[in-house]
Amino acid sequence: MKKIFFNEVATRDGFQIEPTFIPTDTKVTLVDSLSACGYAKIEVTSFTSPKAIPMLRDADELMGRIRRMPGVEYTVLVPNLRGAERALEAKADELNLVMSVSETHNLSNLRMPMTRSFIVLSEVIRMVNGYTPINVSLSCCFGCPMEGDVAQSAVLDLASRFADLGVRGITVCDTTGMGYPSQVGRMVEALQQRLLQLHPQLQLTLHFHNTRGMGLVNVLAAARGGITRFDGSLGGLGGCPYAPGASGNISSEDAIHMLIAEGYETGIDLNMLLPIARQIPHIVGHEVPGQVAKAGRITDLHTAPAYVEEIRKEWSDAQV
Ligand code: COA
Ligand code: ZN
Repeated sequence: MKKIFFNEVATRDGFQIEPTFIPTDTKVTLVDSLSACGYAKIEVTSFTSPKAIPMLRDADELMGRIRRMPGVEYTVLVPNLRGAERALEAKADELNLVMSVSETHNLSNLRMPMTRSFIVLSEVIRMVNGYTPINVSLSCCFGCPMEGDVAQSAVLDLASRFADLGVRGITVCDTTGMGYPSQVGRMVEALQQRLLQLHPQLQLTLHFHNTRGMGLVNVLAAARGGITRFDGSLGGLGGCPYAPGASGNISSEDAIHMLIAEGYETGIDLNMLLPIARQIPHIVGHEVPGQVAKAGRITDLHTAPAYVEEIRKEWSDAQV
């Protein structure tokens, strides 16, 4: 059975686009309960400007209050040097640096050109100097909602430049759900042939949004291509507030349920996760897209209506 490493991003990507502030106590309780479910990693929050992402303005306090479960990595999103300093102060297990492969999205989201982001993030990598593992999330790898097509070679080039700087992992993000399965398959093949060949230890993660209903089929395309690390958000919450038309990540519980059905070993206990997923609409105050929390697992069967037994009996007595 192939092992999958799942990263829960509900309290970062999931919450960052929510309009109503979620209290720190609620975030602490949620992260602590997710810690017991078997995740490889939890992206707890982001150390961004509180003006840019007001929902996550409590990042320092949240990181200080969560209970760290051995075996689970607690990562945080970081856009600049100030964010990296805060993340190190908060003793994050990993810094997840972020920039876009689309110039327009980078300007919109991070308010600087890609060349500047690369310099800033290179400085962070030098400053951290192997002390804390670094992952780099590259936004808009399968298309940009403002620029359109993004060349596969642009993704590979930027990923290679970060790999050359010695980062531990790269996350290839479909920020606004523009990717489709054959494109994902080609991207995964290229990443393996042109990036992992040179950097075999690099941890490669795929990050999908379900904006156009292709999230889970893209997960499957990537998993079948050999990818073992995925991001997902409980309930299917999420989206980048600075990418027009952004909507939810793939729902973690739906993706995990699918991967288990397909014979993958996720290490996640759905009996524990689904009751937590069912709390999400109460936490955010609205319905969420996740399906399995509503429908139950494929193994959660229903009792047949009472009349079925009578019909069964009638037919067994009758000549068919
Ligand atoms: N943490 C806390 N505060 C920060 C910060 C950080 N990492 N980076 C900057 N700031 C503060 C500055 O101190 C300054 O505060 P002031 O106005 O009180 O003096 C203010 O934010 C502006 O700083 P500046 O360096 O000019 O940043 P900017 O306005 O050019 O914005 C980013 C750049 C990267 C900080 C901002 O765009 C950002 O945080 N973006 C994150 C977007 C995001 O998370 N999107 C979703 C995930 S993909
Ligand atoms: Zn995302």
